Amino acid sequence: MADENILPYPYEFYDLTDEEKSLNDKLHNYPYELARLGPKGYIVTKAFKKDAANIYNLPLRSSDIFVTTYQRSGTTWTQELVWLLASDLNYEKALTVPLIERYSFLEMFMFMPDAGLESFMKVVSQNNENFNKETTMQMVEWLRTPVTRNLASRPSPRFIKSHLPMSLLPPKLLDTAKMVYVARDPRDVAVSFYHHTRLFMHNGFKGTFKQFWHLFCESLLVLTPFFEHVKEAWEKRHDPNMLFLFYEDLSKDLPAAVKRVADFLGKKLDDAQTAALCDHLSIENFKKNKAVNFEELRGLGMFAKDEVFIRKGKAGGWRDYFDEEMTQQAEKWIEDNLKDTDLRFPTVK
Ligand code: A3P
Repeated sequence: MADENILPYPYEFYDLTDEEKSLNDKLHNYPYELARLGPKGYIVTKAFKKDAANIYNLPLRSSDIFVTTYQRSGTTWTQELVWLLASDLNYEKALTVPLIERYSFLEMFMFMPDAGLESFMKVVSQNNENFNKETTMQMVEWLRTPVTRNLASRPSPRFIKSHLPMSLLPPKLLDTAKMVYVARDPRDVAVSFYHHTRLFMHNGFKGTFKQFWHLFCESLLVLTPFFEHVKEAWEKRHDPNMLFLFYEDLSKDLPAAVKRVADFLGKKLDDAQTAALCDHLSIENFKKNKAVNFEELRGLGMFAKDEVFIRKGKAGGWRDYFDEEMTQQAEKWIEDNLKDTDLRFPTVK
């Protein structure tokens, strides 16, 4: 019997044009295929199809907390902050249970090798002296199983991470659950995403930053168009269940950001607790914190030797990557995309 509460999936998947495909294929060797989705043409992997409707119809609880971003905008940082505040500063658990287990990563499955499993296994086996096919496959299977299958059995409060734009999440999400959305200057996002793409060697990225930036601006990378993503959340920033933050604000004044998140979650911290939390969240401590730095994936041969997940942690670092021509083009691109909105990134001078 059909459940009347289940919404029909409103969007269509469609292929990239041949030209778009060839631009991406020239620079990547993805272990999956890309598709576009819906009227805004968000880029997803084809695997997303298998769970898109379940995500859209996800049954929510009022205690659910989403941390949502366009990737590389400070998700991990914010996740740890939110989790600790909502978990009465349980540092013992935070330091021992990996973030990847404390949060359900809604669309993780779509980033895992699909059609290209063989090439993925080849890359990781060559990059790992202790390669063990069985252990690697177990990890891959775990990562590519949609979390919607076991979210119902997770205890409350559930912590959910997602890089999906609001329109691909349950349409009434903010009527029930809370969301912290983090946005970041797209130039820093692109630099960070470039390193991230090189970090995960199975992407087979062989281009320069300039080429990567071009793909980003042309909305050819996963979950672009970037500005549509951010604008969808910006439009909801006054909703009482939405807290909209900028990476640059966390970077400039972390204690103030902690206070905003604490107020949003109905928590109170004294000065000493705030100072301890900011110390825990510092980039130096994050780099060595095994529960948040994803280094366990290095052990599986998934990481390039000269890249790390928790990297520089700086606002405005893009200047080292942009020449004069790129700087001007970026300014115009940002200006053009912000014409129809009062959204402004607190750009670091
Ligand atoms: P950079 O690559 O510019 O250093 P996400 O978690 O969304 O993938 O975002 C990753 C970005 O957040 C990376 O940016 C990373 O270094 C930065 N980051 C992670 N932890 C941080 C921290 N504790 N303080 C500041 N930046 C942090």
